[in-house]
Amino acid sequence: MSQPADFAILDHLLEGCQIIGFDRRYLYVNETAARHGRRTIPELVGRKMVDLYPGVEATTMYALLERCLNERTPAEFENAFTYPNGTTAWFDVKMEPVPAGVFILSIDISARKQAETELRDHLHRLEALRMIDVAIISTTDLALTLRSVLDQTVASLQVDAAALLLLNPYSLILEFSAGHGFNSRDIEKTQVRVGQGHAGRAALEQKTVVVSDMLNNPETFSRENSLEAEGFVSYVAVPLLSRGSLMGVLEVFHRAPLLPDQGWMDFLQALATQASIAIDNGRLYKDLQRSNFDLTLAYERTIEGWSNALDLRDRETKGHTLRVTEMTVTLARMAGIPENEIAHIRRGALLHDIGKMGVPDTILHKPGPLSEDEWKIMRKHPAYAYDLLYPIEYLRPCLSIPYAHHEKWDGSGYPQCLRGDHIPLAARLFAVVDVWDALSSNRPYRAAWPQAEVLEHIRQQAGSHFDPQAVELFLRAIRDRGS
Ligand code: C2E
Ligand code: SIN
Ligand code: SIN
Ligand code: FE
Ligand code: FE
Repeated sequence: MSQPADFAILDHLLEGCQIIGFDRRYLYVNETAARHGRRTIPELVGRKMVDLYPGVEATTMYALLERCLNERTPAEFENAFTYPNGTTAWFDVKMEPVPAGVFILSIDISARKQAETELRDHLHRLEALRMIDVAIISTTDLALTLRSVLDQTVASLQVDAAALLLLNPYSLILEFSAGHGFNSRDIEKTQVRVGQGHAGRAALEQKTVVVSDMLNNPETFSRENSLEAEGFVSYVAVPLLSRGSLMGVLEVFHRAPLLPDQGWMDFLQALATQASIAIDNGRLYKDLQRSNFDLTLAYERTIEGWSNALDLRDRETKGHTLRVTEMTVTLARMAGIPENEIAHIRRGALLHDIGKMGVPDTILHKPGPLSEDEWKIMRKHPAYAYDLLYPIEYLRPCLSIPYAHHEKWDGSGYPQCLRGDHIPLAARLFAVVDVWDALSSNRPYRAAWPQAEVLEHIRQQAGSHFDPQAVELFLRAIRDRGS
């Protein structure tokens, strides 16, 4: 059927132009409009839209066309037009009533729409990566971070499910670590040998494996049945690599065909990278915790070693300082000192006389009373302790005992003549234990006192040498120990 000649001026316009007659048939179509409809002009002219594009009568566009034909009202809108092959194009559409029917002007805006969609996807994906970053930075809980990675994977890639398999480096088996979107819990039993199945292949070859038809491409191992029961159709496995070594595999499942474009694949790769960083971080943190633990242990051993060496030099009986320390820790707990400070108190007690390292043997081992000059040196041992321990940051919090264990409640002690509760509590408690232990032991300058006299001395000194409450706690501890 030929076109009316009056519209020849529209034939070569870049905009699509068409006129639909009151009989709903194409009256005129220019080249661009035909191209928009993916038809030729002769295929369209004289035919009805509903016959050429089945289903078009159900669209908003067709409803507006009908309204324009019947009520003579113009319309302007953006229209997504789906072709018989399933693809979609976007048009900016204007409809105007004309004497012959309705004039339709259409401009293809697919490229703009596509760009908008891509931009939106990009923003969503950036946001997703940022959320994972936040999770990595704000928590040391690896499981929590991995869950965040999976949430973002499923939401941003618009897939049905995702799972993370972590490599057990000893058995070379990929073991389930986290999952999202599965109907059953079968996935949690996943154990895939490296090299086996799709995930194992992704791991072995260190490259992404895409399976677009799982039903005709079943995995050659145990998961086949459970994955089929989930109704998955498409699948992608991405190896998780960090600094060149394999950490695991990120798996993505969909219950419909997936047609991944480059942007989608790039984003999946970005998520896999984030997951790798998270796993690597988690492991580093664990290793760090481990080496901190080892270091702490090494420190404690070193301190105990020093403490033994000090006892030997002081000619103390074996285990003397450990016993004093144990009693001090008991008193500290009774006094309600929080557990995190107990470790400092323990170290402080072990090292209480470390300052005697600065006192010459001739004074320390003198069988008789000290001269005034000798006393001057002996009284320096708390200050020596301070000078020794203060530069060691790790030991600084335990200084109160080595520095203040010879202070007295009435202010007559040394080195600072502190009075009452200006003396750190730990040192007040320790002072009682120290004198108790010293009087119970033989010294180069005198023999050990009988226990009853030692306790009588301590009771007597409550309020002058000792904090009365410290004495009370001490006597209670001795009673508890006796019974
Ligand atoms: P140390 O022998 O371990 O004594 C610790 C603290 O227990 C003493 O601190 C003191 O408060 C108490 N103490 C020990 N022995 C006696 C005692 O026989 N009588 C009484 N009432 N209290 C006693 P202090 O006095 O500040 O002494 C610090 C350190 O100085 C002593 O540690 C010891 O190494 C040394 N020292 C003290 N007096 C003499 C002494 O007469 N001769 C010698 N060679 N060294 C002494
Ligand atoms: C300490 O950290 O050694 C004890 C603090 C105190 O109670 O004085
Ligand atoms: C000790 O008990 O080892 C000596 C006590 C002290 O003088 O601090
Ligand atoms: Fe001392
Ligand atoms: Fe001592």
